[in-house]
Amino acid sequence: MSLRLKVKEKFGRKFDEEIRFFKGWMSNTRAVGAILPTSSITARRMASIVDRHSGLPVLELGPGTGVITKAILEQGIAPEKLVSVEYSTEFFNHLKAHFAGVNFINGDAFDLSRTLGAFKDQQFDCVVSAVPLLNFPMHRRVELIEDLLSRIPFGRPVVQISYGPLSPVVAMPDRYRIEHFDFVVRNIPPAQLWVYRKTH
Ligand SMILES: C[S@@+](CC[C@H](N)C(=O)[O-])C[C@H]1O[C@@H](n2cnc3c(N)ncnc32)[C@H](O)[C@@H]1O
Repeated sequence: MSLRLKVKEKFGRKFDEEIRFFKGWMSNTRAVGAILPTSSITARRMASIVDRHSGLPVLELGPGTGVITKAILEQGIAPEKLVSVEYSTEFFNHLKAHFAGVNFINGDAFDLSRTLGAFKDQQFDCVVSAVPLLNFPMHRRVELIEDLLSRIPFGRPVVQISYGPLSPVVAMPDRYRIEHFDFVVRNIPPAQLWVYRKTH
C-alpha cells in the first residue's frame, strides 16, 4: 500500500472513531465522561499493567470506541481472555463487530455480580477501567473499587483513568492503597492514571 493510502486509512479510521465517540457523547454526556477517545499512548500505558503470563482473563470497564481494548490485546492477551463491560449499546455493537472473540458484555460496571453473568465468580488478572466515576457519590466509587479488588488476586492492580489532579476514589489505607501511576499529557484532556491495590 502506498504511503498516501496508509496515511488516508489511518486518519480515516481515527476520524471515524472520533465521530463515533462524539455521537456516543451527544447521546449520553454523563456516561461517556470525556470529550475525545483515549489516546493510544494513554491506552498503552493502562494496558501495560496486564500480566499476560498469569493465565487469568483481564477485565476491562468502559471500552467505548475500543482504543484500550486494542492496547490490551496488543499486550498478547487472547481475545477470549478479555471480558469487557460497556454500558452504551451503540458502542457495544460497534465493539462486537470490530474485535472478534472478545467477551463484550452490554451492561453496568456498577452492578458486576449481575452484569458479569457466567464470569461473575471468575478471578481476573487485573482491571483496566475507563468508566467515568465523578458523577457517582464517593461511597459508590469506593464500593466499585473494592468490588473490583475482590475479583483479582492480592497485589494485582486496578488501573483507572481520570482527568482531575486527585484520585477519583478516596484513600482507605486499611483496605486499599492508591498509587499515582502516570500523567499523560498527550491525551485530550491530559489524563491521570491511578492504580489501586488491596492492602491485606
Ligand atoms: C471516557 S469513555 C471511555 C473512552 C474509551 N477509552 C475510548 O477511548 O473510546 C467512558 C466509557 O465508559 C462507558 N460507561 C459509562 N458508564 C458505564 C458503566 N456504568 N458501566 C460500563 N460502562 C460505562 C461509556 O459508555 C463510555 O464508553
